[in-house]
Amino acid sequence: MKHAILFAMAFFLSIGIHAQKNGELWLDTSGKHINAHGGNIIKYGDKYYWYGENRPYRGFTTEVGVEVYSSTNLQDWKDEGVALSVSETPGHDIERGCIMERPKVVYNPKTQKFVMLFHLELKGRGYDAARVAFAESDSPVGPFRFIRSTRINADKWPFDFTKKQIKAAQKTDASKWKEWWTPAWRAETEKGMYLWRDMAGGQMSRDMTVYIDTDGKAYHITSSQENLTLLVSELTDDFLDFTGKYNMVAPGGQNEAPCIFKHDGNYWLICSGCTGWAPNEARMFVSKSIWGPWKSLPSPFEGTSNYQNFTAKKTFGAQGTYIFNERTDGTGRFIFMADIWNPQHLSQSLHLWLPIDYKADGTPVIRWVDNPEVKAGL
Ligand code: DGJ
Repeated sequence: MKHAILFAMAFFLSIGIHAQKNGELWLDTSGKHINAHGGNIIKYGDKYYWYGENRPYRGFTTEVGVEVYSSTNLQDWKDEGVALSVSETPGHDIERGCIMERPKVVYNPKTQKFVMLFHLELKGRGYDAARVAFAESDSPVGPFRFIRSTRINADKWPFDFTKKQIKAAQKTDASKWKEWWTPAWRAETEKGMYLWRDMAGGQMSRDMTVYIDTDGKAYHITSSQENLTLLVSELTDDFLDFTGKYNMVAPGGQNEAPCIFKHDGNYWLICSGCTGWAPNEARMFVSKSIWGPWKSLPSPFEGTSNYQNFTAKKTFGAQGTYIFNERTDGTGRFIFMADIWNPQHLSQSLHLWLPIDYKADGTPVIRWVDNPEVKAGL
C-alpha cells in the first residue's frame, strides 16, 4: 500500500501536476521553484519560453545568469538551463557577481535571432553603472552570446525637446544639488538637470522592458535619471542598438518596473513606484501613441489578495515584470506577470499572474485570482 502511494505521488510529480496557485511556490517539472524572476515570456514554434533572473538563495548578486524554461501549455515548465551565463573572466561586464535584472527576450524575424536586453550593474559598483546590455542567440534556449553593455542615447536630446528646453537644461548643474526634493531642486530637475548631466556619457537605464509593436518596431522602456523619469527609445531593426530617437514619460514621477500592452488602439503602461524590494502602489498611463502624450491614471489594481492580506494599494505585495497575451494571435487575455520579492531569499520570490479585465469604459482593472487558469493557444 505504502509503495502504491509513493508510486502515485512520483507519477503525478513526473507528469507535472503543478497548478499555478498565486501566493504559493510554482514548481517546474522537476519539482523545483521556478527561478526566473523579473523576466518575460515569448512563444516560438510550438512552445512558450520563460526567461528570468536566476537568483541565489542568499545575496543579491548574479552568480549564474538568466534561466530559461519551456512549456507547451503555460502550466508545466521544464527547466532548459542557463540561457546566458555569467562570465568567469575578471573585469568582464557580466563577471560573476555583477547584477543582471529584468531580462527580456524577443525574436527578430528579420535576423532570425533571439535578442536579449537586460539591466546590468557592474560587479562591485552597487547600482551605479545603470546600463542596458544586449545578447543574442540562434536558439530560444541559448546559449546567448553577450554583445555589449552601455548607457543610452549619449549626446542626443529627446526628439520632442524644443530649442528653448535645450537651452534651459544646459543652464542646470546637478553637481550643485546636495539636497533632493526641495522646490528648487524639483524646478531644476524639471528643466532636464539629469538629462544634461548624463548627456555626454549616456542616460542611465535601470528597470526596463522591451515592447514589439504591431508593426514590428521595437522599443526599450526604462527608468532613467536616478529612477526619476522613464525613457522610451526606439531600437534599430536588428534590435541590437538604439536609433537615437527617444522621449521622456512622466518626468520626475519615479516610476519603476515598466510593463506595457496595447488594447483597442490604446497603449497602457503599468509601473510601480520606487521602494526597493518592498511593494508599493502601481500607477498606470495611457496613450494613443508610443510617443505620448501619456495621461496619468490611478492604479488598475482593485480589492484584496489572498496572500498575506496585501491590498491593491500595495499591488498585492508584488511588482510587475511583463504583460503577455495568453494566445499568440493576441485574441486571448493579457496576463500581468509580477514578482512577490523575497529579499531574504531572492530565488524563492513568488510569481504572480493575474488576468487583465476591463471596466465598462475600457480602462484595465486587475483583481486577485487564486489561479490565473491561463489558456494557452495559437
Ligand atoms: C526594484 C526593482 O524593480 C528591482 O528590479 C530591483 O532593482 C530592486 N529595486 C533592487 O532594490
